[in-house]
Amino acid sequence: MSDETTTRDLLEAARGAALTAYAPYSGFHVGAAFRFDDGTVITGSNFENASYGLAICAETAAAIAANLQGRRTGLVEVAIMGGPLGQDGALAPTAAPVTPCGRCRQVMNELAQLGGTDPVVYSGHATGWIEHRLSVLLPAAFGPANLE
Ligand code: THU
Repeated sequence: MSDETTTRDLLEAARGAALTAYAPYSGFHVGAAFRFDDGTVITGSNFENASYGLAICAETAAAIAANLQGRRTGLVEVAIMGGPLGQDGALAPTAAPVTPCGRCRQVMNELAQLGGTDPVVYSGHATGWIEHRLSVLLPAAFGPANLE
């Protein structure tokens, strides 16, 4: 687990990514920042659709971005920040922490199992964050090994 400074840095990267979200339907802008074991940080943001149910979450977008950069192993930390944008255009994080949805837990599990890691997930809120291991958020996960 990282120290508090680097956790805050990763949450700030997620906050910055949230500003790139396309969320005209929910108004809920989410950013995710993935840190890999060599320090590389890859971000994603939610990308909604006029067919509402087709929204892509920030964490899934980050996973696809990581894949595009050839990163499928070494995922060690994930930070998530979300909320509406304020009148100043800045993210106004919700009081409740943004924990990843079920599908995103499964998507992140794919990277975790491929690299044999159990990432720490920092779910940001207005005044801080809560943290869980991915294995706690998705116990007894189905993954690549189950297909062998
Ligand atoms: N969303 C995310 O991007 N990540 C989460 O962890 C929770 C939900 C998005 C999906 C949708 O665009 C909006 O937030 C409201 O649910």
